[in-house]
Amino acid sequence: MPITLFHGRQDDVVPLEKVRAIAEQLFMNLEFNAVEDDHFLHNNFIKLKGVAEMNFKKILVIGSGTMGTGIAQVCAQKGISVVLSDVSREILDRAVNNIRWSVGKFIEKGKLQEDRETIMSRIRTSTGLEAAAEVDLVIEAVFEKIEIKQEVFKKIEALVSDKTLLASNTSAIPISDIAAAVRRPENLIGLHFFNPVPMMDAVEVIKGIASGEKSFQAGAEFIRLIGKEPIMVQRDIAGFILNRINMLANMEAMRLVGQGVASPEDIDKGMCLAFGRKMGPLETSDLVGLDVQLMAYTNVYEDEKDSRFYPPPILKRKVLAGHLGRKTGKGWYEYNPDGSRKKE
Ligand SMILES: NC(=O)c1ccc[n+]([C@@H]2O[C@H](COP(=O)([O-])OP(=O)(O)OC[C@H]3O[C@@H](n4cnc5c(N)ncnc54)[C@H](O)[C@@H]3O)[C@@H](O)[C@H]2O)c1
Repeated sequence: MPITLFHGRQDDVVPLEKVRAIAEQLFMNLEFNAVEDDHFLHNNFIKLKGVAEMNFKKILVIGSGTMGTGIAQVCAQKGISVVLSDVSREILDRAVNNIRWSVGKFIEKGKLQEDRETIMSRIRTSTGLEAAAEVDLVIEAVFEKIEIKQEVFKKIEALVSDKTLLASNTSAIPISDIAAAVRRPENLIGLHFFNPVPMMDAVEVIKGIASGEKSFQAGAEFIRLIGKEPIMVQRDIAGFILNRINMLANMEAMRLVGQGVASPEDIDKGMCLAFGRKMGPLETSDLVGLDVQLMAYTNVYEDEKDSRFYPPPILKRKVLAGHLGRKTGKGWYEYNPDGSRKKE
């Protein structure tokens, strides 16, 4: 099938024949039609960019915290070799122990057929990033700070082939913002896993403004390969889809408490009984941390200045007062030192 080749306007500095020659070098054995239209650049040429179909035999996960360990675990359980990287040996040893424990639990419950050491033998650890040179996919799961993520991707780009798919597990930073630091943004997408990774089947696959369509589709293919369901986010937007919807419900629950309409207990109980949730929005807020939520809502609000995402005043006041949830013993509820909830 002939491929449409974008040329641009007549006064473009690069002549059509030169564009054609470069494209033929890049995509050997393909036939090109020439089209002089800006629209085609986006709809056809960009579509060709990014990594092609992949095998996903070996991956590198950077950051071995809550999310990185979960991602490494599910991949190893599906027969994929994983290199798990972090800044220190102690962190990596702890991560491997956590994975071993979690895999053991799944085996005990009869959810995994292979023995534990076979699964664990697929995970190798490293305090460096050199493994990037030999993997099909790199998933970054380091701290939620754009500078750190960009730094990691800059280092990775110098090591990987141009056929390696790159993904960030950011929960809220637009992929396009992270990709601004790399030379091949077409290879970078978002793969947003949910916590706890071994239990949660939805993964948002996010297309940044410069992500190639092929990379986007390859990301979805990988998610299916590890037994999860891709939720395709076609356009980069702060908070992506699922958190964005959830945020609005959470903030409304907080506002209702702030306005004295209902107690946290009644809201949580009602949301569980009426909508089949395992946990109400306010108990979840105490678990996640009110400060973490305030930061997430503020980030989305600042990105768009959409008043729907303006954080509720009661949330700001609680954070200022140090009522951050379980970690400080007080949030929407109060907690005993052993972590149990105080009775009203
Ligand atoms: N925790 C969640 O519920 C959740 C859910 C979805 C997405 N996320 C996102 O996933 C990412 C990781 O979150 P987490 O909860 O696993 O964090 P975490 O704090 O548990 O782990 C982050 C790990 O990254 C390591 N790290 C930091 N800088 C590094 C570097 N330069 N190179 C290698 N390792 C480095 C840290 O040592 C730490 O072990 C964040 O972007 C977060 O927003 C978190």
